[in-house]
Amino acid sequence: MRRKVIAGNWKMNMLPDEAIRFIEELTPLVKDTENEVVLCVPYTDLFYVLLNVQGTNIKVGAQNVHFEESGAYTGEISAKMLKSINVEYVIIGHSERRQYFAETDETINKKIKVAITNGLKPIVCVGETLEEREKGITFDIITKQTRLALEGIDKDQVKNVIIAYEPVWAIGTGKTATADEANEAIKKIREEISKIYGNDIAECVIIQYGGSIKSSNAREFLTKSDIDGGLVGGASLKPEEFSKIVNY
Ligand code: PGA
Repeated sequence: MRRKVIAGNWKMNMLPDEAIRFIEELTPLVKDTENEVVLCVPYTDLFYVLLNVQGTNIKVGAQNVHFEESGAYTGEISAKMLKSINVEYVIIGHSERRQYFAETDETINKKIKVAITNGLKPIVCVGETLEEREKGITFDIITKQTRLALEGIDKDQVKNVIIAYEPVWAIGTGKTATADEANEAIKKIREEISKIYGNDIAECVIIQYGGSIKSSNAREFLTKSDIDGGLVGGASLKPEEFSKIVNY
């Protein structure tokens, strides 16, 4: 059985004092869950959040990482830096980064590799735009993004990669795919992984849904056969709301 991973993506929100208060409030609300609880927070919150989750079941992730090991890349943060402070997860290739920061399938692939070699668990986002959906090429887009993301990553490594299927048009819009549509898309992604690594490996890979998940629709998504968790944006900014998703 694959475990469910519920990851919050705070995006560019939350100051350290707000983050600390959030952890205090969230901790008792999620302490009994069997699901993996992850908070992907801004760089400036990482240290505070890591200190405050000690002794809890809350895991911590970053929202980006640079694709080189080190060097003259002003303003960037390396995988080794994240690992050195005990960050466990990192979101890679979020559609906002593809859209506003010129991330490509190639840089995303490099980032996944550097994350894995430094012991971080990547949460890799794939998803179609509204235009692509309307053209009927959703499955082509998401299987291609998956294939390119995983290029050169071996069998043992891919087990530590999480894929998040996030239709771009569903992010922050209040619109969602239906749970059945999301499940079908995720099955396609799993099929693609199976073509590369075989069925046994594909069955181990965690694939989340993301895009306007909230407490009122979480159960619908998270009880589907192939949806192994959620990547939650807006609804991860309030401890009680987020805890209801974790405890769906
Ligand atoms: P949303 O964001 O839940 O606010 O739609 C999801 C995401 O961007 O990961």
